[in-house]
Amino acid sequence: MLVRLQKYLAEADVASRRRAEEMILSGRIKVNGNIVTELGTKVDDELDVVEADGKVVRIDRNMVYIMLNKPEGYVTTVHDQFNRPTVLDLVKGVKERIYPVGRLDYDTSGLIILTNDGDMTYRLTHPKHNVAKTYIALVDSEPTAVEIHTFEQGIIIEGRKTARAKLRVMKRDEAGVYLMITIHEGRNRQVRKMCDAIGHPVRKLKRIATGRLTLGSLKKGQWRYLTREEADYLRSL
Ligand code: URA
Repeated sequence: MLVRLQKYLAEADVASRRRAEEMILSGRIKVNGNIVTELGTKVDDELDVVEADGKVVRIDRNMVYIMLNKPEGYVTTVHDQFNRPTVLDLVKGVKERIYPVGRLDYDTSGLIILTNDGDMTYRLTHPKHNVAKTYIALVDSEPTAVEIHTFEQGIIIEGRKTARAKLRVMKRDEAGVYLMITIHEGRNRQVRKMCDAIGHPVRKLKRIATGRLTLGSLKKGQWRYLTREEADYLRSL
């Protein structure tokens, strides 16, 4: 992955980003044998050889990125005060200390990412970050065009209007009507509250995508490592 040189140096624990910038400007950093004094320079964190004061520096990235299809009945915290099962109980055999990125309700199923990459987690869960999250919601009856419009334009929840959202009616069967919903925030129980607000309480909820990452054929309770491309995509967001 391409990263800015000062970020590379900070991630390799050479110095803080500010100090790293000073080091670059004062000619102490080489990339592939050449002194680089340009702050915007990008380096490939796996292919390029970066030296600080003549010593090769590497990012020790033993980062793991996992996608889990969370079943209902699990919490997405590392410990639960009521001793309920946590998503970590489902991811056995991973020696790194991973934790969930963001949250899904106890009674919601679907895509959740687990990682030990704190930097990526911070950026992905920051409120100003607006990666699309897509859900399938089961409700009792079909929303009207006016209700859909209200949902998509934003609803006041706890005093604050929700950001633009999308709602499509997908199909209906004997269980009810399935809606495909895309939101760009991660407020507490947001999809449920938005559906409540238009008079269509959610009976079942499943997250099927985060940005371009989709659950695919991963079964409930199963997990897999992200591919290199998928992990790079998450880190690039
Ligand atoms: N919105 C909800 O209401 N619940 C979730 O778990 C995620 C989004």
